[in-house]
Amino acid sequence: MTLPPLAAYPALRLRRPRQADWSRRLVRESVMTPADLIWSMVVHEGEGRIPVASMPGIERLSVAECAKAAVEARDLGIPAIAVFPYIDGSTKDAAGSRAADPDGVVSRAVRAMKAAAPEVGIMCDVALDPFTDHGHDGLIVDGRIDNDSTIEKLVEQALVQARAGCDILAPSDMMDGRVGILRKALEAEGFQDVMIMSYAAKYASAFYGPYRDAIGSGKLGTLGPSDKKTYQQDPANSDEALREVALDIAEGADMVMVKPGMPYLDIIQRVVETFSMPTFAFQVSGEYAMIMAAAQNGWIDEERAILESLGAFKRAGCAGVISYFAPRAAKLLGA
Ligand code: PBG
Repeated sequence: MTLPPLAAYPALRLRRPRQADWSRRLVRESVMTPADLIWSMVVHEGEGRIPVASMPGIERLSVAECAKAAVEARDLGIPAIAVFPYIDGSTKDAAGSRAADPDGVVSRAVRAMKAAAPEVGIMCDVALDPFTDHGHDGLIVDGRIDNDSTIEKLVEQALVQARAGCDILAPSDMMDGRVGILRKALEAEGFQDVMIMSYAAKYASAFYGPYRDAIGSGKLGTLGPSDKKTYQQDPANSDEALREVALDIAEGADMVMVKPGMPYLDIIQRVVETFSMPTFAFQVSGEYAMIMAAAQNGWIDEERAILESLGAFKRAGCAGVISYFAPRAAKLLGA
């Protein structure tokens, strides 16, 4: 950018529109509203609400509490809820068998939420990790995460979720080819209206730590690899994210996601500019925990940090954000 000559400066006062709230609002380039939020929610198999230690302010909700939360989402103008299950450890196995249980806690939560607030969209994670005793998103064959047998299992799980009334299937497993196979299975079963939001560019990130606490996922390495680097992306890569997104779009994804959010704003911007697809960021558990920990220490202003962190995704071009802050943010935005 070439700057104008020095003599022009007194007239070029960029602070002029910043001087009042009305003029700041008038020139604002991006706006966040409750309609940009997807509420990330954890459901458990028991009763009531159970706090998650590493995520202050977040509780696992019973099925009945999820239904109440769906009504709250509707009243707050939040369009959709993403539901994640906490499963009793003693009922997990290496095959993640309960992932495809038609009466499992995810199905029950989806049915209860759709009954309580049918106008709220429900999104389900298609992945095995809440259900496997080894904590991986895939099936382990000869010590490796096996792509194709995992997809078969994911299809079973996704069809159970669709039958329960789920509106958006969100495969978060990062197996190759799963979006296309899921799409075909949905069409074949008459679920042509069920959408797919693919976790298209999902990184092998340290920021998922508190989530694994929230959903009670096993410690990796007991069986199979000690990390998810053979399926989730290398945080150093950017072009690879574009290849992942391109494939998922070609395979039939309706919406794409970049995950985590804040450390990957550059990826979000590239994806939006390259594909012009509805692109979502997942503000993950570690991002939530960082903001809350700093705020609870009095080191940052909690409410401002929540809104600023979410607003960054809109500025980067996102259609919306999946966030544990959704209900709080919607209240702050509505105030
Ligand atoms: C796994 C899954 C993860 C999250 C959503 N789905 C964790 C992982 O990949 O290990 C993370 C969500 C969060 O950190 O808030 N299928």
